[in-house]
Amino acid sequence: QAGVRRKVWREEDVRCTLPHRDPFSHKGSHGKGLLIAGSEQMSGAAFFSARAALRSGIGLLSLSVPDEVRPTIASHLPETMFMPRSALDFQGLSGIAIGPGLGREPEQADLVRRVLEYDSVPCVIDADGIYYLSGMTELLRKRKSPIVLTPHPGEMAHLLGTSVSEVEKSRFDVSKQFAEKFGVYLVLKGRNTIITAPDGGQVVNTTGNAALAKGGSGDVLTGILFAFLLQHGRTLDAVCNAVYLHGALADDLVKTGHSQLDVLATDLIEHIPPVLHHLY
Ligand code: APR
Ligand code: MG
Repeated sequence: QAGVRRKVWREEDVRCTLPHRDPFSHKGSHGKGLLIAGSEQMSGAAFFSARAALRSGIGLLSLSVPDEVRPTIASHLPETMFMPRSALDFQGLSGIAIGPGLGREPEQADLVRRVLEYDSVPCVIDADGIYYLSGMTELLRKRKSPIVLTPHPGEMAHLLGTSVSEVEKSRFDVSKQFAEKFGVYLVLKGRNTIITAPDGGQVVNTTGNAALAKGGSGDVLTGILFAFLLQHGRTLDAVCNAVYLHGALADDLVKTGHSQLDVLATDLIEHIPPVLHHLY
């Protein structure tokens, strides 16, 4: 079909594009990221994204969670630094991710707005971070650095003011229209996740299985994606590699002693080492 550019992302694509660490590099060479995530009701989401980012090579990670949950989360994330919500400072960062378990109060919408307005570094917006975006489309369009959105079909439908069935009926077209119109990288999740670049180019992922159909797996993807974004030269490679790896974790787990029923978000994260070892 004329004008349609779609590619399936394969293991060889991952092998060709995963960046290798410069032997003379230091932690600052691999990204200094701030993750704004979690709420009292959903503190696990912040943990999953943070831990997945750490397992995926990020150089330095700061996490901003509400003060009430910080002590508990911090005891599980010894490699992470913490930034209070009341004293967010974006100076010196190389990227920002926002959304997992954030909650949907209007003050969360202000945080998303601030991230979009600080447009000198790339950002990832997921989950509740996507909730208020329909009122901020001008900011999406104007932002100078890359924006990666990772909606599941329900979040995509909310963003467009349409239904999940309308989104699912035309996943490719819906993604392409949105990505081109607002100049974002769009990751439309679900079986065969579709990645669309701002220029309309599309990539389909074939890894992953229904073991991922449970709470927390999307948060793991956000962490991997954030870490990769800060380490790849090309945004599209980072996004495709993250989606591929995330699915490959679930595929490998069910081949090696797990069933699709028992795989937890924690298992995905702790299975990053052998799968990355195979790919890297
Ligand atoms: N086959 C392959 N992949 C799947 C399948 C499947 N059958 N089902 C789910 N996945 C993958 C998706 O492609 C995606 O990468 O699992 C991930 C699920 O992500 P989310 O839907 O965001 O799930 P979750 O982790 O629960 O999100 C946590 O954020 O999106 C909000 O409302 C959500 O509060 C929840 C939180
Ligand atoms: Mg999610």
